[in-house]
Amino acid sequence: MGIVIGIIQVKGGVGRSTLATNLAAALARSARVALIDADVPQGTSASWGALRKRDGRLGQLMVASVADHRALVNKVRELVELNDFVVIDGPPRLAEVTRAIMAMSRLCLIPLGASVAEIWATADLVGIIQEARDRHLNVNARIVWNRFRQQTRAAHELGDAAEKQLGLFALQHKLGYRVAYSEVLARGLTVAEWPDHLARDEFAGLVFEIKQLLGVSVEMEK
Ligand SMILES: Nc1ncnc2c1ncn2[C@@H]1O[C@H](COP(=O)(O)OP(=O)(O)OP(=O)(O)O)[C@@H](O)[C@H]1O
Ligand SMILES: [Mg+2]
Repeated sequence: MGIVIGIIQVKGGVGRSTLATNLAAALARSARVALIDADVPQGTSASWGALRKRDGRLGQLMVASVADHRALVNKVRELVELNDFVVIDGPPRLAEVTRAIMAMSRLCLIPLGASVAEIWATADLVGIIQEARDRHLNVNARIVWNRFRQQTRAAHELGDAAEKQLGLFALQHKLGYRVAYSEVLARGLTVAEWPDHLARDEFAGLVFEIKQLLGVSVEMEK
């Protein structure tokens, strides 16, 4: 049985697809991975996957897309049997799909930028997580800080305050604001395949931390 990792957020453009594609490809370096695009018709992960397939870069990664939450549940059931990991790129809405991802994932990652607008929007998502927990669903969710300006004190203060306010822990590793992320997405690549060692190292650190959190054996890939 594979491990399901859901990438969820109610706001658009926060970095769900960036996180989903880079994470899926990073895991696929040493495991069988399925990436499911559950954000159709937008389909960013599916388009990224098509580019990667065209260039013969899929390796142990397969990419699928689903139209609604029923199709998602069926697809996850099928692919979790065949893969070590299933990564789901969710839609920017509090839709049934988001609830289904929450219910099926061992770990939910919530990309978030250190801006008040994004933090306010995330409060709605936290409400849904709480609802699920009230129904005794064990939702394991972590914030992943994205476009984070490490050098600015305001970003750190805002980040700390948001974690308290939202009642969610964040992963220690944060992603910075780097051109590399948009360059690779458009080319069907990952930051591990791009000549920006800061982006590459920070993402490798994040993957390391996610594997540790999941209790997956961590080989030294860095
Ligand atoms: N850390 C980052 N640094 C620079 N650009 C980034 C970063 N994260 C994401 N981006 C860019 O911001 C845009 C939105 O990111 P992405 O598509 O991953 O977000 P999303 O939450 O999936 O958005 P959507 O709601 O459109 O599905 C993309 O062009 C992406 O390349
Ligand atoms: Mg997206």
